Amino acid sequence: MVDETKTDLTAAGLEANRKADEPCTIVIFGASGDLTVRKLIPALYHLYVEGQMPESFKVLGFARREKTDESWRAEMRAGLEKYSRSQAVDEAQWEAFAAHLGYHRGDLTDPAAYTGMADRLKAYGDDQLANNLVFYLAISPSLFGDVVDHLHEADLLERAEEGDRYWQRVVVEKPFGHDLESAHVLNNHLLRHARERQIFRIDHYLGKETVQNIMMFRFSNAIFEQLWNRETIEHIQITVSEDIGVGSRGGYFEEAGTMRDMMQNHLLQILSLVAMEPPPSLAAEDVRNEKVKALKSIRAMTPENVAKQVVRGQYFAGTVNGDNRAGYRQEERVNPESNVETYVALKLFIDNWRWSGVPFYLRTGKNLPMRASEVRVQFRPTPNVLFAAQGDLDLMPNALTLRLQPDEGISLRFNGKVPGNSISARPVRMHFGYDTEFGAYTPEAYERLLLEAMAGDATLFIRRDEVETAWKIVDDIREAWGEQPLANREFYAAGSWGPEAADELLAQDGYTWHDPQPAP
Ligand code: BG6
Repeated sequence: MVDETKTDLTAAGLEANRKADEPCTIVIFGASGDLTVRKLIPALYHLYVEGQMPESFKVLGFARREKTDESWRAEMRAGLEKYSRSQAVDEAQWEAFAAHLGYHRGDLTDPAAYTGMADRLKAYGDDQLANNLVFYLAISPSLFGDVVDHLHEADLLERAEEGDRYWQRVVVEKPFGHDLESAHVLNNHLLRHARERQIFRIDHYLGKETVQNIMMFRFSNAIFEQLWNRETIEHIQITVSEDIGVGSRGGYFEEAGTMRDMMQNHLLQILSLVAMEPPPSLAAEDVRNEKVKALKSIRAMTPENVAKQVVRGQYFAGTVNGDNRAGYRQEERVNPESNVETYVALKLFIDNWRWSGVPFYLRTGKNLPMRASEVRVQFRPTPNVLFAAQGDLDLMPNALTLRLQPDEGISLRFNGKVPGNSISARPVRMHFGYDTEFGAYTPEAYERLLLEAMAGDATLFIRRDEVETAWKIVDDIREAWGEQPLANREFYAAGSWGPEAADELLAQDGYTWHDPQPAP
């Protein structure tokens, strides 16, 4: 048995052509669902086309609807037409890939469905395909526990032991619980039949190239890491804005809200990568230890802090890029008096030596003017002497922007002298764009995550203590909100940058939000 905790990202992630080597079967629970057709199958197809799948592999879709191998393949082929990042789909490649796909009809709550699946795996006639298993749970989280129990009863999932010849892994989609308590219960349940190193909790933001690049940028460039602390940095802003509303997901959103849907996972993950200390190595556990330490150093919020430092918002009708949008309360399956938040902005402090006193402002919302994710590092201004002392000069403090999506890139702002005999200055920008430098190739997050799950490297997945620490932060805030209705200043028009209250949050500290800009 390979010691999965020692897998090294230097060998793994940074290798030019990473490949999952060991033959295995990927069982997708929720094979009729949206995620499978939109993300999972296109990702596996691209891994196949790029030669990154093992020599021998199977993909077995598991769902309740009556389908044959052929009809499921045809559905997946039609989905690829719509969702594939590469067009047109290469027919010969698809045919070769599709030969690996099969469909197993079954009810998730029926033990016979699992024994039937075990028979089907055995019928492959290959011990590795039958026993090296990735179980991908693209299903309702309320069923995670049951599925794992049934897999265990059907002898398909065991807690791994040193020296095991084969491996089984469970990949779980978010949401992982809906608060600390439920996440804790779910963790205990999963860990009855699998060890922590067999559980791969997804946050698809960690599969994004640019999110991975945060660590590379910080720890492979001496000049920036020297400045990455309270001495030089005044504050940091993290924005994840979306230009879509809740669409057909009103029912889900009424239960979740932005705090649980986006802040608990994606934004806190980005924050932990921006704030973490350098790990002793790139091994999964070393990296995740540092991320958890950063999250644990976030100052806990009392209800009084929440009132001052956290802003909720909900969109009302407006236009986004010329497109009319209904208000959240008018969306399908949403309570017309709902107080669920579609926007959150908050100020956090990380109480450690590096960050003491530096505010981190995080915001995310739906129906904002554009889709963009950015980390904005605002450096301290120069002392008020020399140029800065001349009141009429247009000087700005330095700022570094890591643009995570779209138009991925990094920009540094500094002041330049405008050529000429008079002393006049202007902020200018040095910019690196991924597309210009590396071409337009950006693999989908799920490609990377599926590859890592097959390879057994958990660096890009969320560990138990990480998910629970994040829930604790979110729970404190949600508890302080209680049943309080939204205040007027917490509503925002669809197509605006969020509620007034969010601007006030920064204004009280003398700052303004840096809104992401369209690509130049
Ligand atoms: C998901 C949320 O996790 O992330 C969605 O549930 C959100 O509400 C999505 O739209 C955003 O992901 P991306 O990759 O489009 O930024």
